[in-house]
Amino acid sequence: MRIHIFESYEELSKKAAEIIKSQIVLKNDSVIGFATGSTPLGTYKELINMYKEGLDFSDITTFNLDEYYGLPASDVNSYRYFMYNNLFDHINVDRKKVHIPDGETNDVEKFCKDYEQSIQNAGGIDLQILGIGKNGHIGFNEPDDNMDVPTHLTGLTEDTINANSRFFDSIDQVPKQAITMGLGTIMKSKRILLLASGTDKAEIIERMLKQPVVTTNIPASFLFLHNNVDILVDEKAASELEK
Ligand code: GLP
Repeated sequence: MRIHIFESYEELSKKAAEIIKSQIVLKNDSVIGFATGSTPLGTYKELINMYKEGLDFSDITTFNLDEYYGLPASDVNSYRYFMYNNLFDHINVDRKKVHIPDGETNDVEKFCKDYEQSIQNAGGIDLQILGIGKNGHIGFNEPDDNMDVPTHLTGLTEDTINANSRFFDSIDQVPKQAITMGLGTIMKSKRILLLASGTDKAEIIERMLKQPVVTTNIPASFLFLHNNVDILVDEKAASELEK
């Protein structure tokens, strides 16, 4: 695991976008795993600039980490809406190669199996982008005694519902469930990039990185078992590490 500390969120975002760009330049039909949340927004802005400067996204295949369950795809808070609004509508990605969990499926079990199969059929994820929840979740893999390995339907913890309520008119509107890639799905990615920014993430970054211990209390700690992970943090998110 490589840990990189950046002076600012802007520097972090530039570096993350450069890593994604290198991946695409090296292999134009790369399979990229995308994440939602505020953290990757700067990275996506950089990617849009790179597109304007000639970076070609037309051959990539994308898989998103997660989606709220029970929220229509057209809802402004759906992760599908987020991805199109903040990235896919502004680059030349081929919409037929975009995969985002279907938060409206009636057959969750089949959907999850098919999602796993589609990732496999695409040759696996070359580069997976991750944010981290304040409670250590990645995707929507919440701290718990047991962790589901493949893509699955999960309940959201109160912490996460509270944290994500900032995007909704009221906390009651935050969905209580989501479909997420499992830790196993994430761990099969060939390379992983975890981004953390701001003082809000300082505590979880310190808890996760202070020693290499794997615990289901901090789902992101499973990344210690992966051999190609870069953690990009800005100085604010690293502030507890440096003490
Ligand atoms: C959300 C998403 C995660 C994301 C995390 C942090 O609930 N499911 O994929 O990484 O929370 O979000 P943010 O970057 O806004 O802090």
